[in-house]
Amino acid sequence: MTTNTALTTKDLSVTYVGDREVEALKGVSIDFSANQLSAIIGPSGCGKSTLLKSLNRLHEIQPNVEISGDVHLGDQSVYNTDEPVPKLRKRIGYVPQTPTALPLSIYENVAYGVKLHGEYDSKNELDALVESYLQKVNLWDEVEDRLETPGAELSTGQIQRLCLARSLAVEPDVLLCDEVTSALDPISAESVEETLVDLKEEYTIIMVTHSMEQAQRIADDVVFLYLGEVIEENDVQTFFQNPEKERTKKFIDGDTIVEYDESDDDSPSEAVPAER
Ligand SMILES: Nc1ncnc2c1ncn2[C@@H]1O[C@H](COP(=O)(O)OP(=O)(O)O)[C@@H](O)[C@H]1O
Ligand SMILES: [Mg+2]
Repeated sequence: MTTNTALTTKDLSVTYVGDREVEALKGVSIDFSANQLSAIIGPSGCGKSTLLKSLNRLHEIQPNVEISGDVHLGDQSVYNTDEPVPKLRKRIGYVPQTPTALPLSIYENVAYGVKLHGEYDSKNELDALVESYLQKVNLWDEVEDRLETPGAELSTGQIQRLCLARSLAVEPDVLLCDEVTSALDPISAESVEETLVDLKEEYTIIMVTHSMEQAQRIADDVVFLYLGEVIEENDVQTFFQNPEKERTKKFIDGDTIVEYDESDDDSPSEAVPAER
């Protein structure tokens, strides 16, 4: 199977420059394949969420962040572009860890995304689009008889799929998912996982997960981040069965302790990986 690259990071660095300077990403270059599910894994605090947010410039909503390098969506630069950021974020959607329904009906939660995209001519067409996105996230059968009830009354797992439907309704090319199953019960998590697997037929999905089991179950490619650097990027089978780096082996074997260089203070900004 041939795979095309959908999204590429080029020597991407992100530093938080608040009271304490934290170099969260250090010159990261990654190719994310189109129509694949890529999992970003690594110990807590190693820059996974920072990487995900920097892919569609979500960092710009907070002060004190310095970014260098670039991200390319296809052959277009994400950082050096005249394209307005909201337009860019339509093409690269973001689904956060904690799902939140808008204070609207189930129907309007999804219609909101369609209206943002602006691509419908009539109420009938809007109805059909809302149904199609709810179908895509495997939620339609559960809600078709109560579309006018508040989205917030659904279960957490259903709300997470509702949020996915809202994101898809904007018609993105890439979907960024940050630990989207970690707040869910196991059965809801399973249905969201199945949904993500279905969606990669049409979308490029980049998912941060704290669960190696989840990465093994549903990812095609795995990126292992450690102290803000990419240690290994490989297809899922090679990554888990025949990893190239010692540090990867240790992580897979359950060593998730982050080792900083002892000559420095405990700030990740000053740290170097104990082993590469
Ligand atoms: N808004 C922020 N301001 C300052 N430091 C931050 C901020 N967000 C994250 N960090 C720091 O950046 C590093 C990477 O964080 P993060 O990307 O959230 O890691 P992960 O998602 O892998 O747990 C951590 O040291 C974290 O404390
Ligand atoms: Mg995180």
